[in-house]
Amino acid sequence: MYNEINPDQTDRTGGLPKEESSRQSHFIARCRGWAGDFEKTHHRRPTASVQTFGCQMNARDSEKLSGILEQIGFELKEEEDADLVLYNTCTVRDNANQRVYGRLGYVHSLKKKNPAMLIGLCGCMMQEESVIEKIRQSYRFVDLIFGTHNIYKLAELLYERLTSGSMVVDIWKEGRDIVETLPTERKYPYKSGVNIMYGCNNFCSYCIVPYVRGRERSRRPEEILEEIRRLVDEGVVEVMLLGQNVNSYGKNLETPVSFAGLLKEAEAIEGLKRIRFMTSHPKDLSDELIQVMKDSEKICPHLHLPLQSGSSRILKIMNRRYDKEQYLALAKKIRTAIPDISLTTDIIVGFPGETEEDFEETMDVVRQVRFDSAFTFLYSKRTGTPAAAMENQIPKEVAQARFDRLLALVQQISKEMSGRDTGRVLTALVEETDRQHEGMVTGRLGNNIMVHFPGAPELVGQIVPVRLLESRGFYYMGRMEEQ
Ligand code: SAH
Ligand code: SF4
Ligand code: F3S
Repeated sequence: MYNEINPDQTDRTGGLPKEESSRQSHFIARCRGWAGDFEKTHHRRPTASVQTFGCQMNARDSEKLSGILEQIGFELKEEEDADLVLYNTCTVRDNANQRVYGRLGYVHSLKKKNPAMLIGLCGCMMQEESVIEKIRQSYRFVDLIFGTHNIYKLAELLYERLTSGSMVVDIWKEGRDIVETLPTERKYPYKSGVNIMYGCNNFCSYCIVPYVRGRERSRRPEEILEEIRRLVDEGVVEVMLLGQNVNSYGKNLETPVSFAGLLKEAEAIEGLKRIRFMTSHPKDLSDELIQVMKDSEKICPHLHLPLQSGSSRILKIMNRRYDKEQYLALAKKIRTAIPDISLTTDIIVGFPGETEEDFEETMDVVRQVRFDSAFTFLYSKRTGTPAAAMENQIPKEVAQARFDRLLALVQQISKEMSGRDTGRVLTALVEETDRQHEGMVTGRLGNNIMVHFPGAPELVGQIVPVRLLESRGFYYMGRMEEQ
């Protein structure tokens, strides 16, 4: 994607360049030598598989990792029976960690059959010392371990592994310079995530993200806009601006910029058709942002606004810095200003000390706001966070029973809400052909709901008007209208 990197013109034998992206380009060239030898011996290119376990930011990192691997000469594949498997891990809840250990067991069995296979681990889970310790002791077949701050170094680390023959571990506590000028292999040709900031400073008391992603760092607006322009030139029509708390974007820049200001500039980019973003923290959501969304032609009418709990008492202990009334008032303000908006949320059940009354407050907010959809999570104890040390942890059965009640309510409301546009014509970005039904395609509406309708495969990547004929619970069946 980025022309300034050209491993073909890089001298493989000379000294190491000081500038970081040139240095990495140098290692890509060296790894290419290895890939070339591999091809000569095996009469095929080496294969690589990058497996993503986490959020959109994790997925975007996987695209960067895939870009580097592609440049080295790997053929990328979905399945894990590859010459190099890289697990890009997540540690936000314990089940994410357990999934990784499960997959490591599986991939170990593949490695027994193909001892030359390389296995790498990276991402958020690797920023935890206890995890590294466990892998060193019980998963010694792993070849490569790195964290969240140095993914751009993949080629250098791989080269080190190839030449040293032993496990390479490189974890940084904090992010240094942001290196963005490396190749990226996008999963979709027509849409892309764009990082606008890294890390998080909020320290919600249950959350491990600030510890594994480091302090909040915003990218400069010119760089972000330049990246979007470049993506548009390559055929992207929809971007998703990514950050843990996009509403605090720009506050720590030399020349501070607001998130709403950045959105206005992105809106002006010709050829860009849709803008999404996530995640918004309720405490920082400005009136300016609501106004910009209301006036915009391109910003999708969708706001993901994590509630976490409806109890003001619990919200305080969670360190969320808003209370029930403020959240309700904000949701109302948004729905009044932008009636078509889809409001979605995240909710945690079973936070330490949560009483039946606290939980009822959450149910009450869900009934009042009527979220278009909601992700519900059982509280998961994360070592090192303040909430993990709290004594009044909730028994699993109690939390599970509440979770089931909440899920039932959320789903019932979501079903009612998702049918509200039946009969209308809305635009959809066609994302894929329908795998189960020939002659059908699947599109995503601005409000993030999917619609299935008859259409040709050539429509993929296009934004088209679709009449929503029938709601099927969480998606629509539709018909394309004349453009
Ligand atoms: N930055 C985003 C959230 C990132 S993590 C925000 O502040 O909204 C995504 C979601 O995972 C969170 O919204 C929260 O609902 C959930 N989550 C985070 N830590 C958790 C934990 N320890 N247990 C259960 N759910 C958790
Ligand atoms: Fe975690 Fe809170 Fe930061 Fe979101 S805002 S990533 S929940 S600490
Ligand atoms: Fe998981 Fe890291 Fe994202 S912990 S949710 S992958 S920031």
